[in-house]
Amino acid sequence: MEKHNKSQAVDSLFKPFSLGNLKLSNRIVMAPMTRSFSPGGVPGPDVAAYYKRRAENGVGLIVTEGTLINHPAATGDPNVPNFHGEEALEGWAKVAAAVHEAGGRIVPQLWHVGMTRANGSQPNPEALSIGPSGLNLNGDKVNEPMTQSEIDSIVKAFAQAAADAKRIGFDGIELHGAHGYLIDQFFWERTNQRSDDYGGNMIARTRFAVEIIKACRLAIGPDFPIILRMSQWKSSQYDAKLAATPESLAQFLAPLVEAGVDIFHCSTRRFWEPEFEGSSLNFAGWVKKLTGKPTITVGSIGLDAEFLGAFKGNSAGVADINELLVRLDHEEFDLVAIGRALLVDPAWADKVRDGRWDELVPFNTEVLKKLY
Ligand SMILES: Cc1cc2nc3c(=O)[nH]c(=O)nc-3n(C[C@H](O)[C@H](O)[C@H](O)COP(=O)(O)O)c2cc1C
Repeated sequence: MEKHNKSQAVDSLFKPFSLGNLKLSNRIVMAPMTRSFSPGGVPGPDVAAYYKRRAENGVGLIVTEGTLINHPAATGDPNVPNFHGEEALEGWAKVAAAVHEAGGRIVPQLWHVGMTRANGSQPNPEALSIGPSGLNLNGDKVNEPMTQSEIDSIVKAFAQAAADAKRIGFDGIELHGAHGYLIDQFFWERTNQRSDDYGGNMIARTRFAVEIIKACRLAIGPDFPIILRMSQWKSSQYDAKLAATPESLAQFLAPLVEAGVDIFHCSTRRFWEPEFEGSSLNFAGWVKKLTGKPTITVGSIGLDAEFLGAFKGNSAGVADINELLVRLDHEEFDLVAIGRALLVDPAWADKVRDGRWDELVPFNTEVLKKLY
């Protein structure tokens, strides 16, 4: 793979991006990261300051932590923020305003955890966990399959959250369709054993997401971007795959594109890993190639200073920023999401832009305990 010198390479991360009304000053996206710092489901001033700090320091687009649609079993964690109810939405409106004041853009990641929640969890222990077939990620039966009226009410709740996102000043929405949570439980054969219109083959397994995307589109109109986050891997099931070949991935994506997804956020744990044999394209690369839609890549980018150092190549199990930027220059994907590196270092983007490599802070798990 060709090499870039750093200044050339870094330039391509800082080119503007626009899609309809969404105009970003650069290609850097803050990946959604659950923080559990919103007691009672209400994001407070500390949450607003946390996101604003990243926008002030050069992040183009923030995807918030997963935030809950209106359903009693949407989470098992009472400190995850709601995206419903007057108080929580007032909190979120202040978050969006703070990020805008700093020149950034922000979308909420709308979330329902489905069967990854244990029955009896707080904050609503009386609510039973729900999923397409009542199966957990191991495929064990825990509850009954979702009824049609449960499906309909969840679709409505996503659409209401999308409408609220627009009303209170966000720049788009992201649907959390990744990592084995509710929408992904419909995508994945192991957790979706339904024999009605929502299961039975790969296309039918997209139906729940398709209904959500269409209902959101109806609620927010044509110009408000919908990002869909998806992954082959599931939490605790890293080898899982929705699609084993490019052909089946194309089949899977077609109904989602048709329903109205604007940007696909392709979650992988390491951006440099080829998705299928015979091509170096990663997951975001394949999804862009197959759909023609813009994509976001993610996975172990900039986790430590070593990443920004000399070229190491794939064989050592690490890849440096040159490889990321060569791929970006080749338009394999459009945007680049950064998770843990931005969690530990709010100024990551500005430091990379200015070549202040020595100032980058390596990731450590201590930072998970505070909201800075
Ligand atoms: C503390 C933490 C919380 C996370 N929470 C979410 C989440 O709410 N929604 C989501 O889609 N991904 C979540 N992720 C995954 C990240 O968005 C990202 O895909 C992952 O960390 C890989 O990127 P990185 O290597 O740059 O950290 C989380 C990751 C971390 C470290």
